Amino acid sequence: MSFDTVIGGGTVVSADGLAKADVAIAGERIAAVGKGLARQAAANGATIVDAAGMYVLPGAVDVHVHLAMPFCGTVSSDDYNTGTRAAARGGVTTLIDFVIPTRDESLQSAVDRWHAKAAGKACVDYSFHVCITNPPRHIPEIPALIKSGLPTVKEFMIYASQGWQSDDAAIYETLEVVRKHGGMLLVHAESARVLDALIERRHNEAEMARYGARLHTMTRPNFIEAEAIQRVITWAEATGGRLYIVHMSTGDGADLVAAAQDRGVDVLAETCAQYLVLDDSVFHRRDGHLYATCPQLKKKDDQQRLWRGLKRGEVSVISTDTCSFTREQKAMWAGDWTKIPMGMPGLETLLPIVYTHGVLAKRMTIKDLVAKLCTNPAKIMGLYPRKGVIAAGSDADIAIIDPRRRIKVDHRKMETNTDWSPFQGWPLAGFAAKTFSRGRLIVDDYRFVGRNGHGRFQPRSAPGRP
Ligand code: URP
Ligand code: ZN
Ligand code: ZN
Repeated sequence: MSFDTVIGGGTVVSADGLAKADVAIAGERIAAVGKGLARQAAANGATIVDAAGMYVLPGAVDVHVHLAMPFCGTVSSDDYNTGTRAAARGGVTTLIDFVIPTRDESLQSAVDRWHAKAAGKACVDYSFHVCITNPPRHIPEIPALIKSGLPTVKEFMIYASQGWQSDDAAIYETLEVVRKHGGMLLVHAESARVLDALIERRHNEAEMARYGARLHTMTRPNFIEAEAIQRVITWAEATGGRLYIVHMSTGDGADLVAAAQDRGVDVLAETCAQYLVLDDSVFHRRDGHLYATCPQLKKKDDQQRLWRGLKRGEVSVISTDTCSFTREQKAMWAGDWTKIPMGMPGLETLLPIVYTHGVLAKRMTIKDLVAKLCTNPAKIMGLYPRKGVIAAGSDADIAIIDPRRRIKVDHRKMETNTDWSPFQGWPLAGFAAKTFSRGRLIVDDYRFVGRNGHGRFQPRSAPGRP
């Protein structure tokens, strides 16, 4: 068999183990993984990439991304161009974005709009989750959506002001439908009624002058997330529908998911890199409002519990919830915390954060990193084994990282379209020295060398298990 490229001499990492092996690429796929492939291939004119001393990882799969999303009175600043360039630099070779239909639009028409957003721009592969924003209209459309290769829908328990909120009856019914048709429901779990009441109590000039952006965290105690997770787990337990809790930020949430899993409820959970390494003390900074995200950053105890949850297994995935805004966009708050565009960039730093603060800090092994960033997300979202693993027949989506090389995060040198970074100045190892997307080199020596339009839509099969 003839190979185009062989990545030789690296340590190939899977969720199950490490092996010194060469990885041979033919066209868009991995053709073989084994010893001695580089030597043979060099004689036949293949390009040989020397990966001695490097980790060779499956490209990461970030299953929670918002590109060019209309939100909080503006549009998130990373689109399919900058967002996927950032992904490439961070070793993320597949991302899943959220399609947000308007209330009077069909799910399919919203999906078509999202295809148009990505067309000609995406530099890495992508797929979509579709949000339910008008349950009576949208729930009957879910079976056709699942059949079309989009098996995951999302409901929000908050965001009435965005017109996105689903009530308990809608969530219950959606779980019944995904159960029947082999899909999965993703839920943003926060308790709307009490959250709104807590916000209302403090939404006045005196409190805002006194506490500023700190009110963002002061009005969202942990029970806001925990109560909602508990409630939606009840609906999953009652219906048997598969539930996936997105961006879980609290230790309380992890406890609830673990207990539910122990009694056999079909519930999975992701957390995001920012909840593992940042806490709400950032709101004491002068620019603390930049860190407003939803759910907001929690306490150090929550971080510890989430790391534990990753180890024990109740937390299956680490994603980013990338929803970038520039300083100018964040400045729209003008002293009123309820108007801060919520979200932060993440695609470019996901792998470096988890490698540095997880693997190098001995909170997880490199195998665990591959499980949580690559293999589990691919399995759970119906992309495996095309994505999420280095094996013959899989797409040649590969990130090569140098375990020793630290790079200081500097938003001015990044592909992400923001003029700030939550991790500015942090020395992180684990940026992609090289990234391959379906066999094509798209990052070389830490620089993006890909092209717009290379990224391809990925239809997905039924959600699997980690
Ligand atoms: O603040 C965030 N995370 N913005 C994106 C919307 C969401 O709730 O995921
Ligand atoms: Zn959300
Ligand atoms: Zn989100």
